[in-house]
Amino acid sequence: VFRASGLTTLPSILLIGPSGSGKTSLLTLFERGTSAAQTHTSQAPISAECHLPVGTLASSDRYRSVNDPTNLRHKKFLLVDTPGHGKLRHHALASITNPQNLKGIIFVVDAATLSAGDEGLRHTADYLHDILLVLQKRTESKNKAVKALKEIPILIAANKGDLFTALPASLVKSSLEMEISKVRSSRSKGLLDSGIGMEDEGDRDEWLGEVGSTEFRFKQMEEFDVVVEVSGGNVAGG
Ligand code: GTP
Ligand code: MG
Repeated sequence: VFRASGLTTLPSILLIGPSGSGKTSLLTLFERGTSAAQTHTSQAPISAECHLPVGTLASSDRYRSVNDPTNLRHKKFLLVDTPGHGKLRHHALASITNPQNLKGIIFVVDAATLSAGDEGLRHTADYLHDILLVLQKRTESKNKAVKALKEIPILIAANKGDLFTALPASLVKSSLEMEISKVRSSRSKGLLDSGIGMEDEGDRDEWLGEVGSTEFRFKQMEEFDVVVEVSGGNVAGG
């Protein structure tokens, strides 16, 4: 188990998502191999050096020979946990707008708080909308490192699948798409101030996804090289 210093440039994966969704629990699981007995709401980012099991092939390894000794090495990466509290989200945003070898994002949601009318759904969709918008606008950024981010995979981890109120991944996906549609149209009406975004932007288009579409779909992000996938599971309790 390592606590990495901030100096490393290992490939990094960001854990983002609303408070209480299970990000720190997931980090602990990766770091120790067992889920944490107890977590506290995070106030600062923490990162842990993790590795994939020996023999795991990354997509970049696809042209390697099966006999390549590199395959026998652990594939190291840095998992970066960020606080989900509304007032501490600048940490997560900073990790995107000032990326350190960023390879992907895991957006962790609590699948048990995403039913229609649940305020967890609104909070989650709000946050996800803002993150996706920052990624969509990255090509306009003056920051070279942000601009250089090519394709970014986002895994929406529908956590807490062990709870009986948890929605299955397919419903997590459609509920979030529906709720993001609402966020998007209310933002465009100027009813809400997004509050976040890249500071160096002027009044660029703040519309997420396909212009002119009434329903938001994650697929619309592919035009901006943001590939979203939803997958269900649970860190603890099962
Ligand atoms: P912030 O640090 O506030 O952003 O929250 P977080 O996303 O780091 O959440 P954390 O990992 O602290 O988990 C919040 C609570 O959810 C803890 O009590 C965990 O034990 C619990 N929890 C995490 N994953 C699961 C899960 O898969 N199932 C169940 N039932 N509980 C879980
Ligand atoms: Mg936490």
